[in-house]
Amino acid sequence: MLQDNHGRTINYLRLAVTDRCNLRCFYCMPESGIKYVNRKDLLTFEEMERLLLIFSQLGIHKLRITGGEPFVRTGIMEFLEGISNIDGIHQIHITTNGTLTKDKVDTLSRLGIRSVNLSLDSLDRQRFFEITRRDEFDKVMGTFYRLLESDIKVKINMVVMEGRNIDDIHPMVELTRDHDVSVRFIEEMPFNGTAGQGNTTLWPMPKILDHIGTRYPNIEKQPDPPFSTSVNYRIPDFRGSIGVIAAYTRTFCGTCNRIRITPQGTLRTCLYGNGILNFRDALRSGASDQEITTLLKKALGQRARDGFEAERNRKSEVSESMATIGG
Ligand code: GTP
Ligand code: 5AD
Ligand code: SF4
Repeated sequence: MLQDNHGRTINYLRLAVTDRCNLRCFYCMPESGIKYVNRKDLLTFEEMERLLLIFSQLGIHKLRITGGEPFVRTGIMEFLEGISNIDGIHQIHITTNGTLTKDKVDTLSRLGIRSVNLSLDSLDRQRFFEITRRDEFDKVMGTFYRLLESDIKVKINMVVMEGRNIDDIHPMVELTRDHDVSVRFIEEMPFNGTAGQGNTTLWPMPKILDHIGTRYPNIEKQPDPPFSTSVNYRIPDFRGSIGVIAAYTRTFCGTCNRIRITPQGTLRTCLYGNGILNFRDALRSGASDQEITTLLKKALGQRARDGFEAERNRKSEVSESMATIGG
């Protein structure tokens, strides 16, 4: 079992397979001028698989595939097929924008993918367009309904943004009336590809909950699964559930069980921290499994206590796009 220097179990890896995306969500990246990573600097799928084989033997049992948008990377389905057979990985989840996912749902189900988290910030086509700068609303909704028909659990991730989608909060709760979906309202974070904190302080978790309570005063607390990022609720008699993720005010760091690998192979032991070391370089210079293990354990021995400490220890202000870290 992997543990960090604060006694936290580490059993969850978030692997970002690409920094590219076919949307341009303004809270994640600027409209233009994005410099994508050179292909040769990306981890290859073979390198990712090698890392997974090593990590799975060390106690990493939960894997989330993120990006950018994972399904824009050529070869992703073959990669998923390959890693679905790794013994130690007990759960594979995917976070996707849903634009390219609908036709893949049956295969994902066959591969045993446990859940798909769909980034969907509005149920209104025009607002969706204004947020993502692309007209792909119908495709995402198509994916949502196909997922509901499958045996894959579905969660919706909605970043709550002043002046953009506040009118969507109640319709999103309403979606849980008839559908077995978990809708998670996320505090906006500063990872938007530009310097500055942006609107991160405008909708903290208590305000989101108050706003939900104005329409749904009978909102009921639900137990939170271990290591949950979301604080979970439901409306009595509704089929689905809702949650709030305090991604900016960072209330869940105390049980943080996750590490991240960026598309270039950098290890991040906290979302808010700097990269710690680069596994791509280590692999390409011939590191053995034992050497990779030692690098990982050493990094976990120096982990920041929480996202605030990690942010204080950074070399520069947060300004990277979420697509370069994997969320
Ligand atoms: P589940 O495993 O389904 O609970 O998903 P998840 O919340 O781990 O992952 P997802 O990719 O759906 O992320 C939802 C939101 O939570 C995104 O905005 C993430 O950036 C944020 N998030 C996930 N992990 C962390 C974390 O360690 N720290 C912070 N601050 N935010 C996180
Ligand atoms: N703040 C909060 N959440 C964000 N995401 C992307 N950028 C941000 C941000 N600046 C979310 C997306 C996606 C998840 C991986 O991260 O909605 O669902
Ligand atoms: Fe793409 Fe996701 Fe970033 Fe939106 S949030 S631009 S869908 S990576």
